[in-house]
Amino acid sequence: MQEQREQWGTRAGFLLAAIGSAVGLGNIWRFPYVAYENGGGAFLLPYLVALLTAGIPLLILEYTIGHKYRASPPTAFLRLSKPAQPIGWWQVIICFVIAVYYALIIAWAVMFTGFSVGTSWGDDPEAFLFEDFLRLSDAPTGEFSYVGAVAVPLIAVWVVTLAVLAIGVRRGIERAARIFIPLLAVLFLILVGRALTLPGASAGLDALFSPDWSAITDGSVWVAAYGQIFFSLSVGFGIMITYASYLRRRADLSGSALVAGFANSSFEILAGIGVFATLGFMAASTGEPVGEVATSGIGLAFVAFPEIISSMPAGEVFGVVFFASLTIAGLTSLISIVQVVVASVADRTGLRRVPAVLIVGGVTAVVSIVLFPTTHGVHFLDVVDHFINQYGIALAGLVAVVVVAWLVRGLKPLSDHANESSAVRVGLLWRITLGVVTPVVLGWMMWDSLSAELAENYEGYSTGFLLGAGWAVAIGAIVGGIVLSLLPWKGGRQPEPATTDVEGVQR
Ligand code: ALA
Repeated sequence: MQEQREQWGTRAGFLLAAIGSAVGLGNIWRFPYVAYENGGGAFLLPYLVALLTAGIPLLILEYTIGHKYRASPPTAFLRLSKPAQPIGWWQVIICFVIAVYYALIIAWAVMFTGFSVGTSWGDDPEAFLFEDFLRLSDAPTGEFSYVGAVAVPLIAVWVVTLAVLAIGVRRGIERAARIFIPLLAVLFLILVGRALTLPGASAGLDALFSPDWSAITDGSVWVAAYGQIFFSLSVGFGIMITYASYLRRRADLSGSALVAGFANSSFEILAGIGVFATLGFMAASTGEPVGEVATSGIGLAFVAFPEIISSMPAGEVFGVVFFASLTIAGLTSLISIVQVVVASVADRTGLRRVPAVLIVGGVTAVVSIVLFPTTHGVHFLDVVDHFINQYGIALAGLVAVVVVAWLVRGLKPLSDHANESSAVRVGLLWRITLGVVTPVVLGWMMWDSLSAELAENYEGYSTGFLLGAGWAVAIGAIVGGIVLSLLPWKGGRQPEPATTDVEGVQR
């Protein structure tokens, strides 16, 4: 007998889990730099427009699909319209690919939480990271070796993630979010509070927020704003469809999307303030302009921050708080990403939760643990991350809105469904935004990044490596989605979810 579909305990529990998914590595290390590079204070305008015209409308769409069809992406899209099923599997493969490398960055953050005590990186954090800790090769060619010091925390990250998923939606994911998200908020406030009192903080904030209004007329700034919103809100990869499938019958979908969307952006802007106040301190102590010390991604978290931690009073405490925040933010996002893969296979095969977590989650973990902690690992991470973001999340988002809006003509019935129990009604404006504005902007984004891709090899990597590690993964995800949708899955007919709410209306 198949299990009854699980449900969130409360609306607050669902919201915390959705916020936990959204607030991740993207908020902490991606947003501050993207904002700074794209007009500083002036970036907030395209960012806000992107949030309101694409982020929140798509969030409402994903919540509604998940809630109406009560399933993870492949089954939800199948129920929406049979030919739409490949989109669901495509999103599952995207989640699989992101999970295998996202876990690696969390593993580094775990280790750096420990390294902060005693500032193990010494005088040269860059050499410590790339040479001593990661043992990174110069190029992804030739011989490589396995790096045990990275594999051990990576295994721990996977054990925790799979344990939470095995315990279940309400007792595992929801409970983890109830503990981690308030903790993350407290750690963030400590971090930002400390950062703002550092000498030089105001110069950092000036650099971040001084508006360069000319940026508003630059198309690439708008592309950057939309890209940031998609990644950061976790829309386009099926996570929100999956999470909404565990909501009760009567759930406030549009209201929840507004709360989750604004909570995510608040964390993001707070992270921007904290990171730039800290960079301002670094600039003041080295005598360099803030622009020289501002960097993104791996360089920001694992090189610039260690340098700052070494030079600030009580830096070790600051370091522990920063890397613990990164670990927690990443972990709650990873849990949501892996849940898409596990739940999708469970929904289509009828596998129970624990075997599904052990088999599907186990395979994902093994791929991550075998492939990434090697001396070539960071090269793979860099290329796979770039391609799966550009031609995975954003492209799948584009295809999904076009199919739902134009081929299936599903926006009207979906808005009717959302309006049945939502506090904020969605209507014509929502349908125009999703049916016209979002496809045009996403199509433009796709064209813009594809032209840049073809004009110049990403980060100077060889064409062979980009074809093998980047394009193969992005195109493989599409082909894989189609192939998986053609398999004769046994669990095509799903048990209907509970029709009555045990604990009443969830609003
Ligand atoms: N939304 C998640 C992040 O920002 C994936 O990292």
